[in-house]
Amino acid sequence: MAGGAGRATVRSLGNTGEDVEQMVEDVRAGLLGVPKDLSPWPKYFYDEIGSELFEEITALPEYYQTRTELSILQEKAPKIVARTGCRELVELGSGSSSKTRALLDAMVSRSGSTSGPDRYVPFDVSASALAGSAQRLVEEYPTLEISGFVGDFDHSLESLLARPRSEAFGRLVIFLGGTIGNFMPERRRAFLERLRAGLERGDYLLVGVDLIKDARVLEAAYDDAAGVTARFNKNLLNVLNRKLGGEFDPELFVHRATFDREASRVEMWLDSTVEQEVPVAALDLEVPFEAGEGMRTEISTKFTRESIAGAFDEAGLRLLDLYTDDRDLFGLALGEPA
Ligand code: SAH
Ligand code: AVI
Repeated sequence: MAGGAGRATVRSLGNTGEDVEQMVEDVRAGLLGVPKDLSPWPKYFYDEIGSELFEEITALPEYYQTRTELSILQEKAPKIVARTGCRELVELGSGSSSKTRALLDAMVSRSGSTSGPDRYVPFDVSASALAGSAQRLVEEYPTLEISGFVGDFDHSLESLLARPRSEAFGRLVIFLGGTIGNFMPERRRAFLERLRAGLERGDYLLVGVDLIKDARVLEAAYDDAAGVTARFNKNLLNVLNRKLGGEFDPELFVHRATFDREASRVEMWLDSTVEQEVPVAALDLEVPFEAGEGMRTEISTKFTRESIAGAFDEAGLRLLDLYTDDRDLFGLALGEPA
């Protein structure tokens, strides 16, 4: 990739999420279930438009998560980098990499690049988000080596973590934004176990988690006044139309977000406003909806210090610290192999 003085490559790693057969299988299972449920596959939200809409969400007044996580990172990054001693940052679901700059700044200024370049390895299923961010970062960090990978962490986490690495320095694997909250509990557990298996002694993990709070604050964050989250949610129907020959009319669905305190999660739904049958060519199905019938599209789990410590523990990880803001809105959980 062309750029300033720095170096950046963006390559594909394994299945890049363009596997239509896999999508047919996932969506068929989701649409034939009761209730209809596409939330186990959050990656399908992030086509080019979905990635742009998510970026818009991060700037909404109701969506406190991104700016809060950024403020924690700005304050704690030097401490985290000093504590871990890392010179390589691997970021899962990196998106626009905008908050990562706080950690990159701390890493680059600590090492002073005296003994070889620091390395940043962003990994995302969205090729458009990754290419854009690599291009910008290479201009901003001329001493940084950037090796980006387009891939799907459902399939390629192992190969990402098995890549050659420095013997001398540890790696910090980061998973920001609360994206871990979008996984169902079983998948979250399996994901953390797979991550743990790819870490060596001296490696660390930093996971952004949204914290439990007032239901009104949580629900507003997923149902903003400007309707951007509703557009993000309905864009999933456009993805199904484009990739699977669906005939969903987004106008015939309404966006809904509710906090389920027992399950500790916000759920996004699309409710059909009318009785209808929606053809989806690639599934060879006419999907029936009753008037008012809901289809779950996303879960976003909210954590406590105890629940994230428990999730780490189950996966063989030790929680070293949970960095939070002064209102306990959001947390960054630092862990290491137990
Ligand atoms: N980390 C960024 C982006 C969060 S949005 C932030 O904190 O703002 C979630 C990101 O995860 C998106 O960029 C999406 O493309 C990516 N993603 C979702 N599912 C994925 C998968 N299965 N494999 C790789 N990336 C995935
Ligand atoms: C990426 N993920 C952490 C976001 C969240 O808050 O669960 C996705 C999102 N969905 C609606 N708004 C934002």
